[in-house]
Amino acid sequence: MNKSRLKTIHDLPTPALLLDWPAARRNIEWAAAFVADKPVQLRPHFKHHKCVPLAKAQMEAGGCVGMTTATVAEAKALVEGGITDVLIANQVLSGLDQLVEIAERNTIRVLVDDVANAHPIAEAGLAAGFDIGVLVEVDIGTHRSGVHPGEPALDLVRHLIEMPGVRFDGLHAYHGHVVNILEPDDRAKSARVTMQLAIDTRRLVESAGIPCQILTGGGAATYKTIGKMDGVDELQIGSYVGMDWSYKERVGADFEIAFSVLATVISVSTQGMVLDVGVKGIAHESGPPRLLDHPNFEIPRFKSEEHTIVKAEGHGLSVGDRIRLTPSHGCGTCNLYDQIVICDGDEVRDIWTTSARGYSIPS
Ligand SMILES: Cc1ncc(COP(=O)(O)O)c(C=O)c1O
Repeated sequence: MNKSRLKTIHDLPTPALLLDWPAARRNIEWAAAFVADKPVQLRPHFKHHKCVPLAKAQMEAGGCVGMTTATVAEAKALVEGGITDVLIANQVLSGLDQLVEIAERNTIRVLVDDVANAHPIAEAGLAAGFDIGVLVEVDIGTHRSGVHPGEPALDLVRHLIEMPGVRFDGLHAYHGHVVNILEPDDRAKSARVTMQLAIDTRRLVESAGIPCQILTGGGAATYKTIGKMDGVDELQIGSYVGMDWSYKERVGADFEIAFSVLATVISVSTQGMVLDVGVKGIAHESGPPRLLDHPNFEIPRFKSEEHTIVKAEGHGLSVGDRIRLTPSHGCGTCNLYDQIVICDGDEVRDIWTTSARGYSIPS
C-alpha cells in the first residue's frame, strides 16, 4: 500500500488492519504514567504487533527499559530498528548464530529452565568470546515451561553461575493462567499469590549471596497488581497497545480497543450481508470477531477462509460499504498483515510495516 494515494480508510484495499492512533497513544501513555511514580519499569511484549515503529513509540513514551520478544527473529528486527535492550522470553535452541550476532553489541537475554537448554547458549557464548545473559524462568503455575520456584530454581542458578559463556542476570515468571481470569478480584488475588512465589525465589537466590538483578513478568491483565509488588522490576505488558474484544473484557476501562480490521460488504440480502474477510484475515483463537460499529449485528459462524456472513435484518448497508471488525485476538491478527494502517478516525496518517510478522525462524 502506498500512503501518498490513501487519504482516508475508504481508499484502502480490504481487508486492512487499522490502528486507531489516538486510542493507541492513550493506551501507551496510560501504561507509561502507571510506572512513572514506581520503581517498576515496562518491558512491552513485541509479539503483540511485531511493528518496529510502534515499539519505538512505546519506548519514546517513557517508562520502558526495553522490549520483550518470543523469538530470536523478533529480537533481530528490533535491534535492526535501533532498540538495543531485548529479552527473548523463551528457551532458545535454534537460531543461535543470530542470537550471538545480536547479543554481541546489544543487551540481549534469553530464558533457561534447565541445564539442558542453558548448555547450548553457554557453548555459543564461549565460542563467540562473551557471556550471553540468561534469566531463569520460574513456573509460577502456568505449567508451560519453567523450573519449580524455591530450591529447584536456586539449584539451577548455582549451575549457571559456574557455567562459562552465560551470565545469570535474574528471574522471569509469567502467569499465563492468571491473565485469563475474568473476575477482577480473583485475578488480582491470583496474580499476587503467583508472583509472590517468584519474589520469594528471588529472595532465596539473594540470601545465597547471588545477585539477582531482574525479576520480570506479568501481562496487561495483571500489571496493576504486580506493578506495586516489592521485588518486581519489569512488566511485560503486550496487548495494551491495540487490544481486542476478548482482552478488553478483562482489562475494563484501562485500555481502549485500537485495532480493527476494515472489510467491504460484497453481497447483501434482507437477512444480512457478506464481508470480504474470513479466518485468513482475522485470528479467532478466542472466538469470532465482533462488529465494531454495529454491536447488534451477529456473526453466526466464522469458518470461511475469505468470507464473513453477518446476520442483521434491516441493516440498511449496501454493496461496497465498509465495516470494521474487532478481533478476539489482536496479536494473532497482526501476524496476518504485512502493514498496519495508522489512522485517526477516517483519516489515514501513516502505514507501518510489521517487519517481524510471521517470523519464527531467523533468516
Ligand atoms: C512471556 C510473556 N510475557 C508477557 C505476556 C503478556 O502479554 P499480554 O499483555 O498481551 O497479556 C505474554 C503473553 O502471552 C507472554 O507469553
